[in-house]
Amino acid sequence: MAHAQDQILTPTPSNTIVPEKVREGVDLEINGRAYRHTGDAQMPLLWYLRDVLRLTGTKYSGEHGEGGFDLVLVNGKLASATTVPVAELAGKSVTTVEGLVAADGKLHPVQQAFVDEDAIGCGYCTPGWLIASVDLLNRHPQPSDSDIDQLPNLCRCGCQTRVRRAIKRAANGGRA
Ligand code: FES
Repeated sequence: MAHAQDQILTPTPSNTIVPEKVREGVDLEINGRAYRHTGDAQMPLLWYLRDVLRLTGTKYSGEHGEGGFDLVLVNGKLASATTVPVAELAGKSVTTVEGLVAADGKLHPVQQAFVDEDAIGCGYCTPGWLIASVDLLNRHPQPSDSDIDQLPNLCRCGCQTRVRRAIKRAANGGRA
């Protein structure tokens, strides 16, 4: 009977080793974290956020993003998550409503102002309003009523007046 040390080990021929294929994907950053999307690159960002990453704050807003429920920031600019495919986000940075909260859990001043002004009804439109408000305040630190009224957001619960007050409160450092 042959002992183990007597056996001649034959090395695997190098031409039979097939390296595992590197999975290609789209590298992007969402709320400060790096992700690689290896699925369909034409998937709209909205479904990548909701169905893959389970970031469900961003809402369906119609086929063309009408209503503003699906707004996010891409490299700091307002964008419709429904109409942007993940392929277009390679190397870019996305902020969703979840990303507005500070690392210590503190609400963003705009979120706090919405709470303080009770500017939330059913809440479906709220993430879009919050993102659009952050963008507006970045562009116009003291927005007029007209600036606010030009936001692309809809609210079926009739919160527009309270939203306007909330945005002005946020612009005013949290004071009404
Ligand atoms: Fe319900 Fe705006 S709070 S749609």
